[in-house]
Amino acid sequence: MSLWRKPNKKWMLGVPIGGILAFVIGVGAVMSFHVGMEYTNSNAFCYRCHIGMDTIVEEYQQSSHFKNAKGVVAATCSDCHVPREFLAKLELKIRATADIYHKLMGDITLENFEDEHRPRLAEAVTAEYVSNKSKQCRYCHSIERMDFEKQSRTVARRHEMMESRNQSCIDCHAGIAHKLPTQD
Ligand code: HEC
Ligand code: HEC
Ligand code: HEC
Ligand code: HEC
Repeated sequence: MSLWRKPNKKWMLGVPIGGILAFVIGVGAVMSFHVGMEYTNSNAFCYRCHIGMDTIVEEYQQSSHFKNAKGVVAATCSDCHVPREFLAKLELKIRATADIYHKLMGDITLENFEDEHRPRLAEAVTAEYVSNKSKQCRYCHSIERMDFEKQSRTVARRHEMMESRNQSCIDCHAGIAHKLPTQD
């Protein structure tokens, strides 16, 4: 007995065809969602706005997370700025669409970035690092895996003591990838 007989009413063909179509569209949507999530995590995507608007990209490219003796891209923008947990990531992407508005409005420019915008933005990102105990740094670095023998005595001591002193990476490593706002 065949499982699927040619339906005797013509319109009934629409049922399996509709099913297949829905499936194809569904797979397509899931795939483009994933491609979209990937693309919006790439440096190329961040560069589209952050080059020409501020000096963030140029600073990053001089930092050891981009350029170093080993020649590895140690961290991309999103490694340090986009959470890896799915829901938190989705939430940030939705929130970040407000940035598109600012970009379109041209609020931030190379001329006013340093004085009018950097202090507020740096403060916001720093506050986030403080509140999550520099979680993003720990995606890659862990104090447990540091070979203290290979660090200078004073540096090793700082790292060994940081948990008990309730410190996190940002307390000592602010400005790791960008210039800090100039205080004046
Ligand atoms: C559509 C343009 C655009 C793209 C693409 C973009 N940004 Fe931004 N970004 C902005 C603007 C504009 C601001 C300033 C927003 C404001 O004034 O509140 C900003 C602010 C930020 C801030 C500081 C404020 C905050 O909310 O954290 C960070 C960090 C940041 N962007 C990281 C990134 C990263 C990482 C990427 C790539 C994954 C990226 N941006 C892609 C336009 C963009
Ligand atoms: C190694 C981690 C790291 C990488 C890589 C990194 N950032 Fe940041 N970013 C930070 C931290 C930490 C801050 C908070 C201020 C500070 O300490 O410099 C920050 C601050 C910012 C700010 C706020 C303005 C400011 O000057 O503080 C923006 C915008 C930003 N980053 C965008 C980017 C973009 C775009 C890239 C890639 C081109 C990138 N970041 C790469 C760690 C990183
Ligand atoms: C995606 C992985 C990744 C993330 C996220 C990351 N790092 Fe790194 N970091 C590396 C690698 C790899 C190196 C080694 C680069 C090299 O060979 O110089 C490094 C190097 C460093 C160094 C030594 C730099 C030097 O010039 O000697 C410091 C300090 C550091 N990271 C701190 C941080 C802090 C603080 C954060 C969070 C704001 C952070 N990292 C986020 C991967 C990462
Ligand atoms: C109490 C201050 C302090 C805290 C907190 C701290 N560091 Fe450091 N760290 C230093 C100093 C000082 C150096 C040496 C100067 C430099 O490389 O910036 C250093 C160096 C490093 C280096 C380079 C080591 C080497 O010998 O090549 C890495 C990587 C690093 N820190 C990562 C981290 C990470 C990740 C965190 C958070 C988990 C962290 N540090 C927390 C003070 C601190």
